[in-house]
Order: sequence, then C-alpha cells, then structure tokens
Amino acid sequence: MDEKNAIEMKNPTPSVSRRKLLRFIMAFLGLFGLGAILSSIIVFLTPPRSALKKVGGWQVVGNLSEFKESSLVKTYFGLPVILIKNGKGLLSFSTICPHLGCIVIWDEKKKWFICPCHDAAFDAGGKVLKGPAKPYNLLPMEIKVEGEMIAVKLPEDKLPGYPSWFRITMISGV
Ligand code: FES
Repeated sequence: MDEKNAIEMKNPTPSVSRRKLLRFIMAFLGLFGLGAILSSIIVFLTPPRSALKKVGGWQVVGNLSEFKESSLVKTYFGLPVILIKNGKGLLSFSTICPHLGCIVIWDEKKKWFICPCHDAAFDAGGKVLKGPAKPYNLLPMEIKVEGEMIAVKLPEDKLPGYPSWFRITMISGV
C-alpha cells in the first residue's frame, strides 16, 4: 500500500468542514428550488399587472385566422383576457377572478372556467356558477374586430358593479 492510499484509508469520511460545506450547498440549492417553485405559483395565481396596463385602450389580442373552428376558447399568455368563439360569435372576458383576483382556467371537459384558488366556477358565458366569487361574473370585455385583428378594451361602465378592490386593480393597471 502506498502512502496516499494509506492516508485515504485512515480518513475515509469527508472532514467536518467539507461536510458543513456540502450541507450548506444542499440547503442553498433546496432554498433556491423552493423559491423558484413558490415564485412560479405566485406568478401563475396573480394577474399580470403590466399586461393590465395595455387594456386601458383597445388592445389587439388576436387574429381572426386563429378562430376558424366553430367553437374555441383562447387565452393569451401575459394578457388577462379570454376570447371565446361560439354560435353567437366572439365574446371576451377578463381572466381575473372577481373573488380575490386569481386567474381562472378553462376546463375543456366540463366546458367551464374554474378558479384554482377557491374553486369558483363560471360558465362559457362568464356567468358565475358556484363558489365564493358569487354574485360576480367574469368581467366581460368590450370587443371589436378590425380587418383580421381582434381587439379588446376594459369596459369602464361595467366596473361599478364589481367589488372595490377589483375596480382598483383593473383601473390602476390602466
Ligand atoms: Fe377565485 Fe377565490 S380567487 S375563487
């Protein structure tokens, strides 16, 4: 046995300071991972405030060519807006839940919007069906089509019917 192997045999476990360093690195990586997961959840559940600013005037959100199918529900990443095509034409709603402001999600199987925070549900026309968002429906957005472009706008005349925190959230973003 040479001298180097003899030293390794005498000291097969990492030294205390190496162990401490490894523990510190593992704790740091654990916290970093937890932070990344938590921030993703917060971003997912809260309205995209910068996007709300764009909804003050007419905001182009899509193109008619995206709506060739007879019925379709479309949401836009980074914009708190839903566009729906049904037998009556195009409709638009805000994705912000009027209970406490989480972002609603379309459930294709049940054909309704569900809020992941407290389980409120809204039908495909934005009408509240169940949960703590009652009696508030999803806020209908004004919608216009120019050529191929679809634009939506915050309907300020409909806001007075909503809770004050909701009005402030929507208007302060405008
Ligand atoms: Fe949507 Fe509470 S925030 S149900």
